[in-house]
Amino acid sequence: MLKYRKIGIITLITLLISLGIFSQVLADDDDDDDDDDSSFFGGEDQLKELGDLSLIFLAIGSFYILFRRTYVYSNRYLSKERYPEVKSFIKVNYHRFRQPVFLVHIYASLIASVLAIIHGIPLLDKDEGMVLSGVLAGGAMFILSLSGFLMWRRQKPFWENRESRKAIRWMHRQWLFTGLTVLGLILHLVLLED
Ligand code: HEM
Ligand code: HEM
Repeated sequence: MLKYRKIGIITLITLLISLGIFSQVLADDDDDDDDDDSSFFGGEDQLKELGDLSLIFLAIGSFYILFRRTYVYSNRYLSKERYPEVKSFIKVNYHRFRQPVFLVHIYASLIASVLAIIHGIPLLDKDEGMVLSGVLAGGAMFILSLSGFLMWRRQKPFWENRESRKAIRWMHRQWLFTGLTVLGLILHLVLLED
């Protein structure tokens, strides 16, 4: 019971933070009146700003990947005889900061995904290249967030059976969807310049 209450509280906090940032972004641009292109979510400028914010949160959340890979690869490839101090420095700091950096991965990436969805959906009728690249990146982020969430919460019934646990882990931890996110975003930003 307690577990579900915790999940509820965490979801609520995440939503509140996202909404807080969202309304902040909308409030920033209140003084310009050319709202012809406005949608339920605000004018087009605000929607673009949400794209920027989503990128920032994604970058913050991705720090965990770098942090963890530094530890994993140094553990695997760095010679203990030649670089004992470097190796132990990385190990000690990895264990010291792992928990908070991991939590940042979860919350920042979740917020990035929510913002990307709010940014993307009202822009679905725009330029084809932008929409395709955005949907590629956004879709991969959605799959990562969903699989990440199930893994993090050990969510039943998905986490009860060995096969589905393996599938969820696979979805999140190989580099396919992370790579598709990066590829989609590079295209998204390159196409933006034209
Ligand atoms: C359903 C998915 C998406 C669609 C349909 C979409 C659509 C668009 C469109 C049409 C623009 C250009 C607006 C303009 O200049 O007129 C744009 C800009 C942008 N998008 Fe997306 N997008 C999607 C997903 C994403 C995602 C996942 C991210 C980041 C994580 C993102 C980040 C950005 C950024 C940073 C800009 C530039 C904003 C600026 O000019 O300041 N978008 N998007
Ligand atoms: C949307 C962008 C995301 C990307 C690109 C991403 C990428 C990754 C990658 C590459 C790893 C493996 C790290 C490594 O071993 O080096 C990882 C681990 C993990 N991520 Fe994500 N992730 C994202 C979002 C999320 C979200 C939203 C959650 C949770 C709600 C989450 C939960 C996890 C968990 C539980 C792990 C496993 C931690 C571990 O065993 O070390 N991720 N993520």
